[in-house]
Order: sequence, then C-alpha cells, then structure tokens
Amino acid sequence: MHIIKTKDYAQMSKKAAHLIFAQVLMKPNCVLGLATGSTPIGTYKELIQWYEQGDLDFSSVTTANLDEYKGISRENDQSYFYFMNEHLFSHINIHPANTHIPNGMEPDSDKACKDYNSLLHSIGTIDLQLLGLGHNGHIGFNEPKDSFSTRTHCVTLSNRTIEANKRFFPSIDDVPKQAYTMGIQTIMEAKKVLVIVNGEEKASIVNQAFFGPITPLVPASILQLHPDCTLIADEAALSKTNI
Ligand code: GLP
Repeated sequence: MHIIKTKDYAQMSKKAAHLIFAQVLMKPNCVLGLATGSTPIGTYKELIQWYEQGDLDFSSVTTANLDEYKGISRENDQSYFYFMNEHLFSHINIHPANTHIPNGMEPDSDKACKDYNSLLHSIGTIDLQLLGLGHNGHIGFNEPKDSFSTRTHCVTLSNRTIEANKRFFPSIDDVPKQAYTMGIQTIMEAKKVLVIVNGEEKASIVNQAFFGPITPLVPASILQLHPDCTLIADEAALSKTNI
C-alpha cells in the first residue's frame, strides 16, 4: 500500500483530486467508482474547479457509486443520488446516463442488488475506486461481520454507523436502517483504489485497518491485499501510526 501523508484536509483533497485528474487524463473513457460522505466533498470541489478552468473533460467518463440507502427517494436531500448531483455531477459535463447508483427505491432487495451487479458487469472493471472510511472500518456500506461480502447486497446498518450518520438527518429515527452496497470483491477488483481519510476521530480505525490484522471485522483491512491501493490521509488521521 502506498501511503501519502498530508498536512490537512485541504491538502488531502488536492492530492486525491490529482490522482483522479491523472486517471481521467490518461483514459478519458475510464470507469470511476465514487464515494459519498463528508470526506470526498473537498476532492469533488477540486475536480469541479479543474473542469471549470477547462482542464478536465468528463464527457466520456462512466461512474458507479458504492452505495445508496434503501427506501429513500432520489429527491430526498439525504439520498446519495442527491449528494452526487449536488457535490459533483451537476457541476461537470458528465452524461447523467453514464452515472450509476444503486436504486434505493427498489423495495425488493434481491432485485435491486441483482440489477446493480448486472450494471457493474456491463460497464466493466472499475479503473479507479475512491473510498472513504467509516468509523468502524466500513467501506461503502460493507459493515463489520464474520466474512467478507462479495457482490452488491443489502446491509442492515450497524448502530455505530446509524449514530455516525445521524448528523445528516433531523433525528436518529430518520436515518435509514438499511442500504444497498457494492461488495468487497467488486471493490477489490478495481484496478486502482484510492482511500481518503482525515481527522483525529479516524486515527484509531486507520491504525487498525491499514496496520492491523486483515479481518472482516474491519472491512477496510482487506485493502492491504490490493495490488494498487493508495491511502491519502492527513496528519491527524495518521497520528496513531508510525507514518
Ligand atoms: C458512509 C458511506 C461511506 C463513507 C462513510 C464515511 O457510511 N457509506 O462510503 O466512507 O460514510 O463518511 P465520512 O466521510 O462522512 O466520515
């Protein structure tokens, strides 16, 4: 694993955006795996700036997002569909038809997951997968459990995740309890993986995930086995490691 330590969130965002910039430049019709959460917002801002300056063209890019809450409509401002439009897609020249997110409004979990798996299969291998890190080591919504889930599946969110995500909802009762997420195997098949993490509150999980044993109880730990994984983390997030 390649580790890049940055001073702060702004620098982490810039460096991550540089790697995505390079990917789009080298392969204009690449497939980007994208993430939500507060961590990638700065990275998306950098990409938007480069697009606005005329340095970056997304017209041939395809994207596949990691996850979506189950039972939440696309118009709901807490849906990941809404998030992606708000923070990236509506600001760049990507074709909406080339952007993909699991369908949170499909009540039949088997169908929702099957459909997303077929979609992922049809768009081909992800060239670069961007990931944030959950407080319990989850990636996408792959929560800690006793085995690594492979493909898209429906997850019951852990109390820790519901607690962490309640800040975005009017109350904890409004946080969806389930989500559809891309599986670990799909993430591991991406040609490149780029993990971004910031802040002291993630220092302990960064240490466990990237310097501890590989275990499904810390889902991100599997990334230690990925042949081309880069972790970009700020000083605070790396403060419990020797880096
Ligand atoms: C959510 C998302 C993850 C994300 C995580 C961390 O649970 N499903 O993909 O990495 O939150 O979020 P944040 O970046 O806000 O800490």
